[in-house]
Amino acid sequence: METNPIFEPVIIGFTCNWCSYRAADMAGMSRMKYPANVRLIRVMCSGRLDPTFVLKAFASGADGVMVTGCHPGDCHYIEQNYKALRRFLLLQRTLEQMGIEPERLRLTWASAAEGAKFAGEVTSMVEAVRGLGPLSWPLASAALAEHGGIAPVEELPLAGQDPHPAGCVSQEDA
Ligand code: FES
Repeated sequence: METNPIFEPVIIGFTCNWCSYRAADMAGMSRMKYPANVRLIRVMCSGRLDPTFVLKAFASGADGVMVTGCHPGDCHYIEQNYKALRRFLLLQRTLEQMGIEPERLRLTWASAAEGAKFAGEVTSMVEAVRGLGPLSWPLASAALAEHGGIAPVEELPLAGQDPHPAGCVSQEDA
């Protein structure tokens, strides 16, 4: 009998410890349903997200990456989520140049009280990536084949590159 398999994307979710990770917790405790496609990785702040984390996730087989953090103005590390926003915009442009649909990377703000929002964003991300289909990234495949499954970060395209787009001023620069 022929089956009609539904593509189940793998989504890596980098969540801020202080807000969106707790929003995920809240969604779970409130028994809100959302697809089990997302694998959460907790970081202390969305600003901690190095662009190479995202590229490594894609190179290691993720079909989509979600970054979630505190709302602008609520970051526990003052304005590091603005840094995450700048990196996100730069990464989306870079992914597009590499032949990866920018919709495969999403940035969302969710406070600890927004379990429903978090669940909704995960659901919408999974649906969007399911619509795009599996990611086949030739560069990643080549790197993976060469290194037996794990692409070394230093060989990924953004390694060592300044994550700040031209014209952006960060707190450290001020
Ligand atoms: S502490 Fe949550 S985004 Fe910075």
